[in-house]
Amino acid sequence: MTKTQKILITGTNGLLGFHLARVMSEKYILLATDIQDHSFTSGFNYRLLDISCREDIFTVCSDFKPDIILNAAAYTNVDDCETNVETAFVVNARGPQFLAEWCLQNRAKLVHISTDYIFNGQNGPYKETDTPDPVSVYGLTKLAGEAQIRRLLSNYLIVRTNVLFGKGPTEKASFVRWVVDSLRAQRLIHIVDDQYNNPTWSDDLASAVRVLLEINLTGVINYGGSDYMNRYEFSQLICRAFDLDTDLINPVSTERLALAAPRPLKGGLDISRIKTIPGIPLTPLEKILTIIKETGY
Ligand SMILES: NC(=O)c1ccc[n+]([C@@H]2O[C@H](COP(=O)([O-])OP(=O)(O)OC[C@H]3O[C@@H](n4cnc5c(N)ncnc54)[C@H](OP(=O)(O)O)[C@@H]3O)[C@@H](O)[C@H]2O)c1
Repeated sequence: MTKTQKILITGTNGLLGFHLARVMSEKYILLATDIQDHSFTSGFNYRLLDISCREDIFTVCSDFKPDIILNAAAYTNVDDCETNVETAFVVNARGPQFLAEWCLQNRAKLVHISTDYIFNGQNGPYKETDTPDPVSVYGLTKLAGEAQIRRLLSNYLIVRTNVLFGKGPTEKASFVRWVVDSLRAQRLIHIVDDQYNNPTWSDDLASAVRVLLEINLTGVINYGGSDYMNRYEFSQLICRAFDLDTDLINPVSTERLALAAPRPLKGGLDISRIKTIPGIPLTPLEKILTIIKETGY
């Protein structure tokens, strides 16, 4: 396939950015970027890019001249955002704003990844048209990022997702790995049974974004896994797939964990709209876990 369009992806050392780079490199001329001075996406063009720095964005983008910018960079530590409010705001709200400013001046499309944490979690799963009401600094800053993009651009796509899992490029903690490694080491773990969402496989989401680009969708769309459940139920499925003993998992309430950031409890995303788009992958959770078991977690 001859590649003609150029895509710049931010946050490619992260879980989703890594898979987006892998999938998009098949079709587009790719520039992978992240804030850290190394790339796990070996074989790809790579440049350092801090999305909180407008000058950095304008230099790197003006050199590469992407047709599409795909923003998977974010300050994603939900609890740390409560104390590092300024950093969270600069990365999650100003970053998308600066990217949108470059896209506006250069007629590029901006694809941005957002979250169900922009909702309060009282009555999820949420539709694209539901009214946001974040309960955490992370949610507030992600909502502000969305607002900046909508204010500046018409040629944008915001893809909202929730609870990502998959095999990332680093040893950074993943929910599946944490459950499996803890239970194999005979460690007792506490998992909340009152946070509901639809766990989303990073590989499927990356492929879904490629389909959305192919049909040139604009606006806001939800993508989440096809199974809606609480975190404890998710851990039970992991145990079943990996033949692990569930006795070491202790279900607890979110309140008992006394986390720094409040969590939306009945969160997650209604995916009825994206389901109508041909070619969108929605692998059943049990099958994904079997694949992960066979290919590495
Ligand atoms: N993970 C989830 O459950 C989840 C759920 C819903 C939505 N999302 C959204 O999905 C997207 C991808 O999430 P993810 O789980 O793949 O996150 P991730 O693994 O934390 O990856 C984010 C990447 O962005 C980088 N980054 C941080 N600050 C940056 C900056 N100023 N400039 C450039 N890069 C920067 C991070 O580098 P460092 O690690 O070095 O900081 C990291 O490599 C984010 O927009 C997130 O809000 C995630």
